[in-house]
Amino acid sequence: MSNYHIKNFEEYFHVYRKSIRNPENFWEEVAEEHFLWRKRWDNVLSWDFKKPEVKWFEGGKLNITENCIDRHLRIRGDKTAILFEPNDPKEAAEHISYKELYKRVNKFANVLKSQGIKKGDRVCIYLPMIPELAISVLACARIGAIHSVVFAGFSSSALATRINDSSCKMVITSDGGFRGNKTINLKSIVDEALLKTPCVETVLVAKRIKSTIEMKEGRDVWLQPLLDKADEECEIEVMDAEDPLFILYTSGSTGMPKGMMHTTGGYMVYTAFTFKNVFQYRENDIFWCTADIGWITGHSYIVYGPLLNGATTVMFEGVPSYPDFGRFWEIVDKHKVSQFYTAPTAIRALGKESVDFVEKYDLSSLKTLGSVGEPINEEAWHWYNDNIGKKKCPIVDTWWQTETGGIMISPIPFVTPTKPTYATLPMPGIQPTLLDENGKEITGNQVDGRLCIKFPWPSMARTIWGNHDRYRETYFSAFENMYFTGDGALRDEVGYYRITGRVDDVIIVSGHNLGTAPIEDAVNEHPAVAESAIVGFPHDVKGNALYGFVILKETGEYRDHTNLRKEINQIITEHIGPIAKLDKIQFTVGLPKTRSGKIMRRILRKIACDEIGNLGDTSTLLNPEVVQEIIDNKID
Ligand code: WTA
Repeated sequence: MSNYHIKNFEEYFHVYRKSIRNPENFWEEVAEEHFLWRKRWDNVLSWDFKKPEVKWFEGGKLNITENCIDRHLRIRGDKTAILFEPNDPKEAAEHISYKELYKRVNKFANVLKSQGIKKGDRVCIYLPMIPELAISVLACARIGAIHSVVFAGFSSSALATRINDSSCKMVITSDGGFRGNKTINLKSIVDEALLKTPCVETVLVAKRIKSTIEMKEGRDVWLQPLLDKADEECEIEVMDAEDPLFILYTSGSTGMPKGMMHTTGGYMVYTAFTFKNVFQYRENDIFWCTADIGWITGHSYIVYGPLLNGATTVMFEGVPSYPDFGRFWEIVDKHKVSQFYTAPTAIRALGKESVDFVEKYDLSSLKTLGSVGEPINEEAWHWYNDNIGKKKCPIVDTWWQTETGGIMISPIPFVTPTKPTYATLPMPGIQPTLLDENGKEITGNQVDGRLCIKFPWPSMARTIWGNHDRYRETYFSAFENMYFTGDGALRDEVGYYRITGRVDDVIIVSGHNLGTAPIEDAVNEHPAVAESAIVGFPHDVKGNALYGFVILKETGEYRDHTNLRKEINQIITEHIGPIAKLDKIQFTVGLPKTRSGKIMRRILRKIACDEIGNLGDTSTLLNPEVVQEIIDNKID
């Protein structure tokens, strides 16, 4: 019997136990029955968390796009693969069938080839949420080029850093994009980034906003004329299961963003399996994940997971607030969406608006609701459950990471009884555990600790591009023989997991991971700033917002603090992007430091969160007197 589609709770436990007893057998069975391999693997799994090295389906040969597209042509050729809903509701939606997707991906792949892109080359994709984004991702995969999608909200300097880190040969972008009532001039951001990226040879430019832009002779090429000329057939590149599929950058607590590298076979098997089960996808359902393809959620659950299952996946260009706060619900109604997958920050923002925005629309097509990106608070969970799901749609609170490639802990709808704010139980094959500070496993229930995973799973990232040492350091050195997630979690009396949040210096703002170090580096660039420390504090829409403590140089200038705050945020916007702007900036004469000179962020965090009642022992600080001064001048 196939274990691909779990249908009841008993079966879940049965499958789960089986998957843990013999993970190799379990994943082999899934891989065997549901995909097209050009050659079968020689070895299901080899692994060593010390090196660390993990290989799945070694020796297997395949192409993921053959599994996403070609394989469906005979039975689902005319079915909609990608349903594109534009920013402006007056612009018609576009239904791209599997047949059409096949042609468009092949044409695009041929264009890439004609521009000199080969297997193993890195291609940076910096596009708004238009069909070309999904198509270019697939086109890269078709010819074995490694895509590195950079979210189009990132600044030119963040883009340049990412392009250089993986030495991309090509950038795919557009003249611009529409987001709500704004028009974004993407090409000019790319132009600025490319002043600092000697590795880029070609820029392919898609047309979206039809503005006049500069095209640099010998470097920039319009995409459409090339597509028009390109052939509709493009033979797949046969890939090894462990060949890289893509790089996707995520923030670390320190230093450069980490280019998480995912490989082909395991990623395919795991994203397909989790998509099917976590959303209980049935033929003819319409699946909508509201994420941007610039994030892992979009990679795995807008593009790969759904297409691997022959699903119809909605791609939305716009924002939930345009033309009004009913936009999401209007789209659910219009396209009869069956599964709706979004982030707590969006739910909280929409929950603040009148329910009239919801009630205008018929949401009866909905079967399952999903949440991802950060812990979903109780109030948001209930609002989602009551107003959107009408108490009939299970909410799958899915915990996972860019590094994990696919959903790790989540209820299975209609199978796992849900519990507000709990991600509940692990997917088959996933072995979570909680560790205490000394690295000891905490057994039993009603406990909390640091969340680790004990055993490899097919879609785990294999390395950080160009920096395997950092990969080992970050994920495999905190606890021996464990993958450390960076998250804290608790396990309740029945064994359900609840993710409580990051235990490192990553702060999740509106579902985006932000490392404190790069933001502090940006702030410190301001000529008036001597030193800074950034912490998170609770925010009712964004989940967390950023609070900066800033020491100024004693120059006597820059007395106008309002302007100074604006300038600091401007620098952050330029270096990272507007998502990293500080909500509060407190100028201070000192920061609490340990005797070895380390900033005690724990104390600043408590002050920012109004938890001054339990600051803990401050007597060991180098400068305990500064704490009271900071409390007295706190910004509300
Ligand atoms: C957090 C997003 C609580 C967590 C797929 C994780 C969550 C980080 C949840 C990864 C959830 C994600 N409940 N926290 N359901 N989902 N997180 O890499 O801290 O953008 O480590 O991947 O988001 O964020 P990333």
